[in-house]
Amino acid sequence: MPTTWLDSLTRQTRRAGVLPYPHQAAYFLNNPLRRMSGDDDRAVKQLDLTGFERVLEVGPGPGYFSVAISQKLTRGRLDLLDSRLEMLDKSRSALDRAECYNVSFHQGDAEDELPFYDDSFDVAFLASVLGEISNRQGCVRSLHRIVKPGGLLVFREGFPDPQRLSVAELRALAESEGFVFCDATGNRWHDIVRFRRRP
Ligand SMILES: C[S@@+](CC[C@H](N)C(=O)[O-])C[C@H]1O[C@@H](n2cnc3c(N)ncnc32)[C@H](O)[C@@H]1O
Repeated sequence: MPTTWLDSLTRQTRRAGVLPYPHQAAYFLNNPLRRMSGDDDRAVKQLDLTGFERVLEVGPGPGYFSVAISQKLTRGRLDLLDSRLEMLDKSRSALDRAECYNVSFHQGDAEDELPFYDDSFDVAFLASVLGEISNRQGCVRSLHRIVKPGGLLVFREGFPDPQRLSVAELRALAESEGFVFCDATGNRWHDIVRFRRRP
C-alpha cells in the first residue's frame, strides 16, 4: 500500500515489470542523505545481534548495511549473496575500506535454491531485494530452509524503491512458508518487518 504521494508515483514504474537495480546507480543507495537519516542504524538494530551470529544478507548492493552488520559481528560471520558481480565488487571494496574481514561473498541468484546447508543462519536480512525477485515464494521457502529454527528473517522495504513490498505482502509470503510474524516498525517512508522460524 503506498504511504506517500511520492511512493505512489514511484510505484507506477512497477508497470514496466520487475527490474533489477542497475549497478551503475549504486551511488544512490550509498547517498549521504540516506545515512544521515539513521536508516542503517535502525535496520541493523532490528537484527538483534549479540556478536556471535552467522548472518546472511541477500542483495547487499554496494554494502550500505553490510559494513555495520559486519562490525557488530565481533565473533560471528556475515555471508553476502548477490546476483551481480559488480555489486559484490562494490560491497567488497566498502568492507575492505572498513577493515571488515569476517565476510564471505557469493554470487548467486536468489530465484534459485540458496547455496547453503539447512539451518545455517541465525539471521537473514533483505533490504529492497524481494521486490526484484520474480519467484518470491520460492526465495522465502529457501530462506526458511537455511535459517536455523528460532532464527530471524528481517525485511527492510522503503521509498524510493518502485518494487517496495507492503507489510501485508511480506506477511502473506513469509507466513505461508512457516515463519511467524514478530513485528513491523518504521514510518511512512520505510518498514522493517521481522519474522522468526518456529523453534
Ligand atoms: C535495490 S538494490 C538494494 C541494495 C541494498 N540492499 C540496499 O538497500 O542498499 C537490490 C540488490 O538486490 C540484488 N538482486 C536483485 N535480484 C536478485 C536476485 N534474484 N538474487 C540475488 N540478488 C539480487 C541486486 O543486484 C542489488 O544488489
